[in-house]
Amino acid sequence: MFATNKSIEQCISIEKFNKRNIKLFMKRDDLIDLEVSGNKWRKLKYNIEHVLQHKLQGVLTFGGAYSNHLLATASACQKFNLKSIAIVRGEELEKESNWVLKRCAELGMLLIFVPRETYKLRNDYDYRNQLKLTYPGMYIIPEGGANFMGMIGCQEILMECQSKYDHIFVALGTGTTATGIASTISGDTKLNVVSALKGVDVIETLDALYRSYGFSDLDINDWLECIVPHENGHCGGYGKTSNELLEKIVDIQKTTSIELDPIYTGKVWIAMEDWIEKENITNSTILFIHTGGLLGGKEIMNAFRASKK
Ligand SMILES: Cc1ncc(COP(=O)(O)O)c(C=O)c1O
Repeated sequence: MFATNKSIEQCISIEKFNKRNIKLFMKRDDLIDLEVSGNKWRKLKYNIEHVLQHKLQGVLTFGGAYSNHLLATASACQKFNLKSIAIVRGEELEKESNWVLKRCAELGMLLIFVPRETYKLRNDYDYRNQLKLTYPGMYIIPEGGANFMGMIGCQEILMECQSKYDHIFVALGTGTTATGIASTISGDTKLNVVSALKGVDVIETLDALYRSYGFSDLDINDWLECIVPHENGHCGGYGKTSNELLEKIVDIQKTTSIELDPIYTGKVWIAMEDWIEKENITNSTILFIHTGGLLGGKEIMNAFRASKK
């Protein structure tokens, strides 16, 4: 198992926050592992445990060309001597198309490239059954590790935290990480959820996930009460970036030595700064969840840094 004690709760000093008496901490899940990084191990942990306990052969999952989830699954399966298969969106791709896919293949993952129309069937009952028959002994994990066991793994994030926070900030892709965190919040702490995707209703997304896991209205309403949605911090959509975003990531690295990624955590940082300004937040204790993703965003950041030389 990957040791999560590497994920420290680090105090970050940012002058403009200090002036407002804002104490900022960062939960460094990016330090868990370079490949099985951030929320990836949280989401995979109980899924992998299930595969091992039931003596299944491995994991079959889904993802796009630069998926952090595919890389994490390939790497975790290799460490546990499990097979891994990925259904990858885009029949035009091949394993040499980019270094994420190349690395997945190196780690022993079987990559199956499918047309976008086929990929859309990834949560379809009949398509999954067909996959189960074609690849017997493989345990199917949804895209992004978005299942009940993924949520349970993410519940452990706050259990490892000591301090009491007024506000927590986290990114949303599938929403699994946020569902785990929201269901372990106590007191009046607010969970600020920043969507990395355009056109997403954060509350609706989390509500649908909780319902699919079978929780009661009472629990769901209780957990959703702490959510503060941030739906405009996506920089134009999933995978889209802006100069402001990339410059901010470089700037944060210079001042704190901490690297953020341009797909998720950089967007969360900007949303957090904007919110502090707009709401004139003072005297507050904030926890920023660093969900990793540095390898998936590496090419974008390398190209940006090279363009600045
Ligand atoms: C680095 C990073 N942060 C945040 C997220 C969003 O997590 P979730 O899909 O659980 O909402 C992802 C996607 O899985 C990610 O790769």
